Amino acid sequence: MKLDVRQIEKQFVLHNRGGVRVTGFSDISFNVARGELLALVGPSGAGKSSVLKAIYRTYLVNGGSILFHRQDGTVVDLAVCTESSVLELRQREIGFVTQFLKVLPRISALQAVAAPLLELGEEEDAARRRAAELLAFLNIREELFDISPLTFSGGEQQRVNIARGVIAPKELLLLDEPTASLDEESSSRVLKLLGNLKKQNIAMIGIFHDQRKVDQVADHCYRILREA
Ligand SMILES: Nc1ncnc2c1ncn2[C@@H]1O[C@H](COP(=O)(O)OP(=O)(O)OP(=O)(O)O)[C@@H](O)[C@H]1O
Ligand SMILES: [Mg+2]
Repeated sequence: MKLDVRQIEKQFVLHNRGGVRVTGFSDISFNVARGELLALVGPSGAGKSSVLKAIYRTYLVNGGSILFHRQDGTVVDLAVCTESSVLELRQREIGFVTQFLKVLPRISALQAVAAPLLELGEEEDAARRRAAELLAFLNIREELFDISPLTFSGGEQQRVNIARGVIAPKELLLLDEPTASLDEESSSRVLKLLGNLKKQNIAMIGIFHDQRKVDQVADHCYRILREA
């Protein structure tokens, strides 16, 4: 698997503002292969989150190509492919850990984290065990496991979100500021998890603000500059 992003650009047209155009990003090119983590860095508003959303096809780009090369040699261009190809890729090959946790009320942290494994047909006990292990590794206290994460602190929610995003890793994982509101100890646990994923040949693109974290975990770094 390899992702090849070539000269993508995005302008937002604000229809409720008389069609005003806002630049999301322009002239972005990079690639990432199996087992590699590419860090996206750059100032606030540079377009980092928008680039991840373009790869996940939440946003449609205005130009360029986003080539997803599968192991079997087939290639899908996420810049132009059909919605059904997008859904297929999201189901099996591309995962997105967003900045904020979205879960239904009354679902416990453990259930939320175990869910992706259950969807893959994993047996209930094994899935719950693996979820508990991951939560414990990310320093979530056991007394919180059976509670809805909607009542958790910001950093706890973020860790639940990461656990859920990595428990059944897809081939390409997109991470929007996975360590944003975490303390040093929790951040370093998250970075360790990402290191383990690399060993499992997962490709990752992550947004980071802290250069030290980039140095610790990233194989390559792509800097997006804000246009004047
Ligand atoms: N849905 C949207 N509609 C209109 N403009 C948008 C939309 N999404 C992003 N933008 C604009 O695109 C630019 C890039 O935003 P983006 O969120 O990608 O930045 P970022 O690099 O992730 O910033 P931060 O570090 O603050 O998260 C911003 O100027 C933003 O206003
Ligand atoms: Mg962002």
